[in-house]
Amino acid sequence: MAMTQITLRPAAIEDVAAIVALHVSVWRATYRTLVSDAVFAALDEAYREARWKAALTNPGRDQLVLLAEQGERLVGIGAVGAPSHEAFGGRGEIRFLYVDATVKRQGIGRRLMRELARHLADLKYPGAALGVVAGNDPAIAFYSSLGGTVIGSYVNPGPIWPSEDIVMVWDDLSLLA
Ligand SMILES: CC(C)(COP(=O)(O)OP(=O)(O)OC[C@H]1O[C@@H](n2cnc3c(N)ncnc32)[C@H](O)[C@@H]1OP(=O)(O)O)[C@@H](O)C(=O)NCCC(=O)NCCS
Repeated sequence: MAMTQITLRPAAIEDVAAIVALHVSVWRATYRTLVSDAVFAALDEAYREARWKAALTNPGRDQLVLLAEQGERLVGIGAVGAPSHEAFGGRGEIRFLYVDATVKRQGIGRRLMRELARHLADLKYPGAALGVVAGNDPAIAFYSSLGGTVIGSYVNPGPIWPSEDIVMVWDDLSLLA
């Protein structure tokens, strides 16, 4: 039986519940061993729901939130926008890239990255950048395989959890897009 196709589309406010469910479950599986118990407990559904509602109601500059769906089922999210920190050197910032564990390694992360990079190229950004938590080795391997390079690290103050983040960049958006 052929797999149901994956389609991408921008998120809308009606998608908040599905986004929160995916974000929290993938985040918990990824960060269980990388954060304290207090942080693990604090970044719960209520916390994420408030943040996603705000982001989709009142979009940040140059924001695009993309959803990957398999039929009706949300299987991936990715967002991009103006840089939130000087560590990104004015490049567009990729954030919240999460793919459901059941559909990993099928190219969904790569497709989301490609569309996010196209958005940045359309907006004439000189490149893309992101912060990835030190120790999240699978994600670092994924970004490296897409041509990302490490330029340094910074302490991401975060609203709840200050993390040591590796800064990865793409200075040729056509490589990603
Ligand atoms: C990182 C993540 C987004 C990748 O998404 P994905 O859809 O599984 O990735 P893709 O199938 O597009 O992978 C593309 C290539 O990246 C590399 N790659 C992906 N996952 C990898 C892993 N776990 N280890 C090593 N390389 C990996 C491979 O080269 C892969 O190509 P291949 O499968 O043909 O070998 C996904 O694993 C995820 O959601 N992880 C948990 C959340 C997270 O850490 N997000 C990033 C926060 S900064």
